[in-house]
Amino acid sequence: MSHNTIAINQRMDKFDGHHRVWLFGYGSLIFKADFPFIERRLASIEGWSRRFWQGSHDHRGTETAPGRVLTLTPDPGAVCAGMAYLITPEVFAHLDHREKNGYLRLAVNINFDDGDSEEGLVYIATDDNAAYLGEAPERDIARQIAASAGPSGPNRDYLTNLADALRSLGKDDPHVFAVERHLAEF
Ligand code: SIN
Repeated sequence: MSHNTIAINQRMDKFDGHHRVWLFGYGSLIFKADFPFIERRLASIEGWSRRFWQGSHDHRGTETAPGRVLTLTPDPGAVCAGMAYLITPEVFAHLDHREKNGYLRLAVNINFDDGDSEEGLVYIATDDNAAYLGEAPERDIARQIAASAGPSGPNRDYLTNLADALRSLGKDDPHVFAVERHLAEF
């Protein structure tokens, strides 16, 4: 089921008046930066883990056969590595549309790999959104990913592009790499 979050995100006024905002990407925003940015830096956020627990009815699946894409789940002590982009506020119109199937903008503290930190935004699909699928065994997640495709292409490309991007950045993620290993079975 589609759960359009565009209107909610447009009411998010935390960074109103800012000319530049840091955005933290942990999924497709790492490997598909189809938006203008001023600068990008390797970064991480604390207290969250990346999981293939969000349904995709609009990009990597369909209304009747949703794919699985990433969201973040609260995980005290965990560190999620990703990419931070410095963007202008106009870019959020595009991002809100791209992330409309259940993702909400949330303010987070972003730690840059080369030192300092800044408050910024991340798109998170929480467990109360209509497209949320939730936890499943990693092999079942891989099976669903192998069988799904949508307007943005095969669901397996989302997984392998992300795994390749994490490897090239020198970042580990046991969940992502376990699902990728299972994908070879289907
Ligand atoms: C993100 O990449 O930060 C959000 C989830 C996605 O678009 O895959």
